[in-house]
Amino acid sequence: MRTLAMPSGRSIPVLGQGTWGMGEDPGRKRQEADALRLGMDLGMTLIDTAEMYGEGGAEEVVAAALAGRREQAFIVSKVYPHNAGRRAVQAACERSLARLGTGHIDLYLLHWRGSVPLAETLEGFEALKKAGKILDYGVSNFDVDDMREAAGAGVAVNQVLYNLARRGVEWDLLPWCREHGVPLMAYSPLEQAGMLGVPGLMAVAARHGASPAQIAIAWLLHQEGVVAIPKAVAPAHVRENRAALDIVLTAQDLSDLDAAFPPPRRATPLDMR
Ligand SMILES: NC(=O)c1ccc[n+]([C@@H]2O[C@H](COP(=O)([O-])OP(=O)(O)OC[C@H]3O[C@@H](n4cnc5c(N)ncnc54)[C@H](OP(=O)(O)O)[C@@H]3O)[C@@H](O)[C@H]2O)c1
Repeated sequence: MRTLAMPSGRSIPVLGQGTWGMGEDPGRKRQEADALRLGMDLGMTLIDTAEMYGEGGAEEVVAAALAGRREQAFIVSKVYPHNAGRRAVQAACERSLARLGTGHIDLYLLHWRGSVPLAETLEGFEALKKAGKILDYGVSNFDVDDMREAAGAGVAVNQVLYNLARRGVEWDLLPWCREHGVPLMAYSPLEQAGMLGVPGLMAVAARHGASPAQIAIAWLLHQEGVVAIPKAVAPAHVRENRAALDIVLTAQDLSDLDAAFPPPRRATPLDMR
Protein backbone atom coordinates (compact mmCIF):
# COMPACT_ATOMS: atom_id res chain seq x y z
CA MET A 1 0.00 0.00 0.00
CA ARG A 2 1.32 3.46 -0.93
CA THR A 3 1.73 5.76 2.07
CA LEU A 4 2.09 9.49 2.78
CA ALA A 5 4.34 11.04 5.40
CA MET A 6 2.66 12.90 8.25
CA PRO A 7 4.42 15.87 9.89
CA SER A 8 5.56 13.55 12.70
CA GLY A 9 7.49 11.50 10.15
CA ARG A 10 5.22 8.45 10.57
CA SER A 11 3.39 7.27 7.49
CA ILE A 12 -0.28 6.80 6.72
CA PRO A 13 -1.71 4.45 4.05
CA VAL A 14 -3.47 6.31 1.19
CA LEU A 15 -6.47 3.96 1.05
CA GLY A 16 -8.39 2.72 4.06
CA GLN A 17 -11.85 1.66 5.21
CA GLY A 18 -14.60 3.72 6.84
CA THR A 19 -17.00 2.44 9.51
CA TRP A 20 -19.76 5.02 9.79
CA GLY A 21 -23.07 3.16 10.14
CA MET A 22 -21.39 0.00 11.45
CA GLY A 23 -22.09 -1.34 14.94
CA GLU A 24 -25.63 0.02 15.03
CA ASP A 25 -27.44 -3.29 14.53
CA PRO A 26 -26.17 -6.34 16.51
CA GLY A 27 -27.48 -8.61 13.74
CA ARG A 28 -25.10 -7.04 11.20
CA LYS A 29 -21.93 -6.82 13.32
CA ARG A 30 -20.48 -10.09 12.11
CA GLN A 31 -20.91 -9.20 8.45
CA GLU A 32 -19.36 -5.78 9.10
CA ALA A 33 -16.31 -7.25 10.86
CA ASP A 34 -15.92 -9.77 8.01
CA ALA A 35 -15.89 -6.88 5.50
CA LEU A 36 -13.15 -5.06 7.44
CA ARG A 37 -11.11 -8.28 7.69
CA LEU A 38 -11.45 -8.86 3.95
CA GLY A 39 -10.29 -5.29 3.32
CA MET A 40 -7.28 -5.87 5.57
CA ASP A 41 -6.46 -9.11 3.76
CA LEU A 42 -6.37 -7.05 0.56
CA GLY A 43 -4.05 -4.45 2.12
CA MET A 44 -6.49 -1.81 3.36
CA THR A 45 -5.15 -1.81 6.88
CA LEU A 46 -6.20 1.74 7.78
CA ILE A 47 -9.57 1.61 9.55
CA ASP A 48 -11.37 4.86 10.33
CA THR A 49 -13.83 4.88 13.21
CA ALA A 50 -15.14 7.20 15.96
CA GLU A 51 -16.68 7.02 19.41
CA MET A 52 -19.77 8.53 17.75
CA TYR A 53 -20.37 5.70 15.27
CA GLY A 54 -23.03 3.45 16.76
CA GLU A 55 -22.20 5.16 20.08
CA GLY A 56 -19.16 2.91 20.46
CA GLY A 57 -20.62 0.01 18.46
CA ALA A 58 -18.39 0.65 15.45
CA GLU A 59 -15.26 0.54 17.62
CA GLU A 60 -16.44 -2.86 18.89
CA VAL A 61 -16.84 -4.08 15.30
CA VAL A 62 -13.27 -2.91 14.61
CA ALA A 63 -12.07 -4.86 17.67
CA ALA A 64 -13.78 -8.01 16.36
CA ALA A 65 -12.17 -7.51 12.94
CA LEU A 66 -8.72 -7.04 14.48
CA ALA A 67 -8.77 -10.06 16.78
CA GLY A 68 -5.31 -11.60 16.57
CA ARG A 69 -3.98 -9.06 14.06
CA ARG A 70 -3.97 -5.69 15.79
CA GLU A 71 -0.35 -5.04 14.83
CA GLN A 72 -1.25 -5.08 11.11
CA ALA A 73 -3.76 -2.25 11.46
CA PHE A 74 -3.58 1.53 11.44
CA ILE A 75 -6.51 2.60 13.64
CA VAL A 76 -8.00 6.07 13.36
CA SER A 77 -10.63 7.08 15.93
CA LYS A 78 -12.25 10.38 16.87
CA VAL A 79 -13.37 12.13 20.00
CA TYR A 80 -16.65 14.03 20.23
CA PRO A 81 -16.10 17.80 20.65
CA HIS A 82 -17.96 17.70 23.96
CA ASN A 83 -15.44 15.12 25.25
CA ALA A 84 -12.44 17.10 24.05
CA GLY A 85 -11.54 18.99 27.25
CA ARG A 86 -8.01 18.51 28.66
CA ARG A 87 -9.15 15.86 31.17
CA ALA A 88 -12.29 14.59 29.47
CA VAL A 89 -10.30 13.58 26.41
CA GLN A 90 -8.13 11.24 28.52
CA ALA A 91 -11.24 9.41 29.72
CA ALA A 92 -12.83 9.34 26.25
CA CYS A 93 -9.63 7.87 24.81
CA GLU A 94 -9.53 5.18 27.52
CA ARG A 95 -13.12 4.21 26.67
CA SER A 96 -12.25 3.99 22.97
CA LEU A 97 -9.16 1.89 23.76
CA ALA A 98 -11.26 -0.49 25.83
CA ARG A 99 -13.87 -0.90 23.09
CA LEU A 100 -11.16 -1.31 20.44
CA GLY A 101 -9.37 -3.87 22.62
CA THR A 102 -5.99 -2.22 22.07
CA GLY A 103 -3.35 -0.35 24.02
CA HIS A 104 -2.96 2.47 21.50
CA ILE A 105 -4.73 4.31 18.70
CA ASP A 106 -2.53 5.16 15.71
CA LEU A 107 -4.24 8.46 14.95
CA TYR A 108 -6.77 10.21 17.20
CA LEU A 109 -8.84 13.08 15.78
CA LEU A 110 -11.05 15.85 17.12
CA HIS A 111 -14.26 15.01 15.20
CA TRP A 112 -15.24 18.65 14.66
CA ARG A 113 -14.74 21.94 16.48
CA GLY A 114 -17.00 22.56 19.46
CA SER A 115 -16.94 24.96 22.39
CA VAL A 116 -13.78 23.58 24.08
CA PRO A 117 -10.80 25.84 23.26
CA LEU A 118 -8.62 24.17 20.65
CA ALA A 119 -5.46 24.72 22.70
CA GLU A 120 -6.98 22.65 25.54
CA THR A 121 -7.80 19.72 23.25
CA LEU A 122 -4.32 19.83 21.74
CA GLU A 123 -2.77 19.78 25.22
CA GLY A 124 -4.90 16.75 26.05
CA PHE A 125 -3.79 15.05 22.82
CA GLU A 126 -0.14 15.80 23.64
CA ALA A 127 -0.56 14.18 27.07
CA LEU A 128 -2.12 11.09 25.46
CA LYS A 129 0.77 10.91 23.01
CA LYS A 130 3.37 11.18 25.79
CA ALA A 131 1.58 8.36 27.62
CA GLY A 132 1.74 6.20 24.48
CA LYS A 133 -2.05 5.89 24.23
CA ILE A 134 -2.05 7.53 20.79
CA LEU A 135 0.78 7.73 18.27
CA ASP A 136 -0.42 10.81 16.38
CA TYR A 137 -3.31 13.26 16.64
CA GLY A 138 -5.20 15.39 14.19
CA VAL A 139 -8.44 17.14 13.38
CA SER A 140 -11.54 16.72 11.26
CA ASN A 141 -13.89 19.17 9.56
CA PHE A 142 -11.35 22.00 9.99
CA ASP A 143 -11.50 24.76 7.38
CA VAL A 144 -8.44 26.74 6.40
CA ASP A 145 -8.81 29.34 9.20
CA ASP A 146 -9.02 26.55 11.79
CA MET A 147 -5.90 24.97 10.30
CA ARG A 148 -4.04 28.27 10.49
CA GLU A 149 -4.97 28.46 14.17
CA ALA A 150 -3.72 24.90 14.76
CA ALA A 151 -0.52 25.37 12.73
CA GLY A 152 2.63 24.32 14.55
CA ALA A 153 0.70 22.28 17.13
CA GLY A 154 1.60 18.86 15.77
CA VAL A 155 -1.62 18.18 13.83
CA ALA A 156 -0.96 15.10 11.71
CA VAL A 157 -3.97 15.14 9.33
CA ASN A 158 -7.24 16.93 8.60
CA GLN A 159 -10.18 14.66 7.70
CA VAL A 160 -12.81 16.46 5.60
CA LEU A 161 -15.59 15.85 3.10
CA TYR A 162 -13.93 15.60 -0.31
CA ASN A 163 -15.01 13.81 -3.45
CA LEU A 164 -15.71 14.59 -7.12
CA ALA A 165 -19.03 16.21 -6.22
CA ARG A 166 -17.55 18.25 -3.33
CA ARG A 167 -14.43 19.94 -4.58
CA GLY A 168 -14.50 23.17 -2.56
CA VAL A 169 -11.36 22.18 -0.59
CA GLU A 170 -9.29 22.51 -3.76
CA TRP A 171 -9.59 26.30 -3.55
CA ASP A 172 -7.60 26.89 -0.37
CA LEU A 173 -7.70 24.07 2.19
CA LEU A 174 -6.00 21.38 0.10
CA PRO A 175 -3.24 23.78 -1.08
CA TRP A 176 -2.70 24.82 2.57
CA CYS A 177 -2.45 21.20 3.68
CA ARG A 178 0.01 20.40 0.89
CA GLU A 179 2.14 23.40 1.70
CA HIS A 180 2.33 22.32 5.35
CA GLY A 181 2.82 18.61 4.65
CA VAL A 182 -0.48 17.67 6.35
CA PRO A 183 -2.28 14.80 4.57
CA LEU A 184 -5.96 15.47 3.84
CA MET A 185 -8.18 12.45 4.57
CA ALA A 186 -11.17 12.48 2.20
CA TYR A 187 -14.31 11.19 3.89
CA SER A 188 -17.46 10.13 2.01
CA PRO A 189 -15.22 9.56 -1.05
CA LEU A 190 -18.22 8.05 -2.89
CA GLU A 191 -20.62 10.78 -1.74
CA GLN A 192 -22.33 7.90 0.10
CA ALA A 193 -22.97 6.28 -3.29
CA GLY A 194 -25.05 9.31 -4.32
CA MET A 195 -23.03 10.37 -7.38
CA LEU A 196 -22.30 7.03 -8.98
CA GLY A 197 -24.93 7.48 -11.69
CA VAL A 198 -23.56 10.76 -13.09
CA PRO A 199 -23.13 10.18 -16.87
CA GLY A 200 -19.65 11.79 -17.12
CA LEU A 201 -18.37 9.48 -14.36
CA MET A 202 -20.03 6.42 -15.90
CA ALA A 203 -18.41 7.17 -19.27
CA VAL A 204 -14.88 7.29 -17.78
CA ALA A 205 -15.63 4.09 -15.85
CA ALA A 206 -16.78 2.31 -19.02
CA ARG A 207 -13.52 3.28 -20.76
CA HIS A 208 -11.53 1.54 -18.00
CA GLY A 209 -13.87 -1.45 -17.64
CA ALA A 210 -14.22 -0.23 -14.05
CA SER A 211 -17.12 0.86 -11.86
CA PRO A 212 -17.96 4.54 -11.20
CA ALA A 213 -17.01 4.01 -7.53
CA GLN A 214 -13.56 2.82 -8.57
CA ILE A 215 -13.02 5.88 -10.75
CA ALA A 216 -14.17 8.16 -7.90
CA ILE A 217 -11.58 6.57 -5.59
CA ALA A 218 -8.84 6.52 -8.25
CA TRP A 219 -9.48 10.24 -8.85
CA LEU A 220 -9.01 11.05 -5.16
CA LEU A 221 -5.85 8.95 -4.97
CA HIS A 222 -4.54 10.84 -8.00
CA GLN A 223 -4.63 14.08 -5.95
CA GLU A 224 -1.35 14.77 -4.20
CA GLY A 225 -1.46 14.48 -0.40
CA VAL A 226 -4.89 12.82 -0.19
CA VAL A 227 -6.02 9.69 1.71
CA ALA A 228 -9.41 8.08 0.89
CA ILE A 229 -11.52 6.01 3.29
CA PRO A 230 -14.52 4.45 1.50
CA LYS A 231 -16.91 2.47 3.68
CA ALA A 232 -18.15 -0.85 2.33
CA VAL A 233 -19.92 -3.81 3.88
CA ALA A 234 -20.68 -5.71 0.67
CA PRO A 235 -17.64 -7.94 -0.10
CA ALA A 236 -17.85 -7.07 -3.81
CA HIS A 237 -17.59 -3.38 -2.89
CA VAL A 238 -14.57 -4.04 -0.66
CA ARG A 239 -12.77 -5.84 -3.50
CA GLU A 240 -13.65 -3.14 -6.01
CA ASN A 241 -12.42 -0.39 -3.75
CA ARG A 242 -9.06 -2.04 -3.23
CA ALA A 243 -8.66 -2.57 -6.98
CA ALA A 244 -9.21 1.17 -7.55
CA LEU A 245 -5.66 1.65 -6.33
CA ASP A 246 -4.36 0.13 -9.54
CA ILE A 247 -6.32 2.38 -11.94
CA VAL A 248 -4.24 5.05 -13.67
CA LEU A 249 -6.33 7.95 -14.99
CA THR A 250 -5.31 9.64 -18.25
CA ALA A 251 -5.27 13.37 -18.99
CA GLN A 252 -8.45 12.81 -21.03
CA ASP A 253 -10.14 11.09 -18.05
CA LEU A 254 -9.19 13.99 -15.76
CA SER A 255 -10.51 16.59 -18.17
CA ASP A 256 -13.77 14.66 -18.69
CA LEU A 257 -14.20 14.42 -14.90
CA ASP A 258 -13.54 18.18 -14.59
CA ALA A 259 -16.30 18.76 -17.13
CA ALA A 260 -18.76 16.56 -15.20
CA PHE A 261 -17.71 17.85 -11.76
CA PRO A 262 -16.28 21.37 -12.17
CA PRO A 263 -13.51 22.48 -9.79
CA PRO A 264 -14.29 25.49 -7.54
CA ARG A 265 -14.04 29.01 -9.00
CA ARG A 266 -14.09 30.82 -5.66
CA ALA A 267 -13.73 30.18 -1.92
CA THR A 268 -16.70 28.45 -0.27
CA PRO A 269 -17.19 27.37 3.36
CA LEU A 270 -16.14 23.78 4.05
CA ASP A 271 -18.90 21.22 3.38
CA MET A 272 -19.68 18.85 6.25
CA ARG A 273 -21.84 15.79 6.89
N1 LIG B 1 -15.00 12.98 10.01
C1 LIG B 1 -16.27 13.03 9.67
O1 LIG B 1 -17.01 13.95 10.05
C2 LIG B 1 -16.82 11.96 8.78
C3 LIG B 1 -18.08 12.13 8.17
C4 LIG B 1 -18.54 11.12 7.31
C5 LIG B 1 -17.77 9.98 7.08
N2 LIG B 1 -16.57 9.81 7.73
C6 LIG B 1 -15.75 8.59 7.53
O2 LIG B 1 -15.59 8.35 6.13
C7 LIG B 1 -16.07 7.04 5.83
C8 LIG B 1 -16.61 6.96 4.42
O3 LIG B 1 -17.67 7.87 4.22
P1 LIG B 1 -19.22 7.44 4.18
O4 LIG B 1 -19.44 6.19 4.94
O5 LIG B 1 -19.97 8.66 4.59
O6 LIG B 1 -19.56 7.24 2.65
P2 LIG B 1 -18.86 6.60 1.35
O7 LIG B 1 -17.67 5.81 1.70
O8 LIG B 1 -18.74 7.72 0.37
O9 LIG B 1 -20.03 5.66 0.82
C9 LIG B 1 -20.45 4.51 1.51
C10 LIG B 1 -21.59 3.88 0.71
O10 LIG B 1 -21.12 3.52 -0.58
C11 LIG B 1 -21.36 2.13 -0.80
N3 LIG B 1 -20.22 1.59 -1.54
C12 LIG B 1 -18.96 1.32 -1.06
N4 LIG B 1 -18.17 0.86 -2.03
C13 LIG B 1 -18.93 0.84 -3.16
C14 LIG B 1 -18.67 0.43 -4.48
N5 LIG B 1 -17.47 -0.02 -4.86
N6 LIG B 1 -19.68 0.53 -5.40
C15 LIG B 1 -20.90 1.00 -5.03
N7 LIG B 1 -21.21 1.39 -3.78
C16 LIG B 1 -20.22 1.30 -2.86
C17 LIG B 1 -21.50 1.50 0.57
O11 LIG B 1 -22.33 0.36 0.47
P3 LIG B 1 -22.11 -0.99 1.39
O12 LIG B 1 -21.69 -0.53 2.75
O13 LIG B 1 -23.46 -1.62 1.34
O14 LIG B 1 -21.07 -1.84 0.72
C18 LIG B 1 -22.16 2.63 1.34
O15 LIG B 1 -23.55 2.64 1.08
C19 LIG B 1 -17.12 6.80 6.92
O16 LIG B 1 -17.53 5.45 7.00
C20 LIG B 1 -16.40 7.34 8.13
O17 LIG B 1 -15.44 6.41 8.58
C21 LIG B 1 -16.08 10.80 8.54
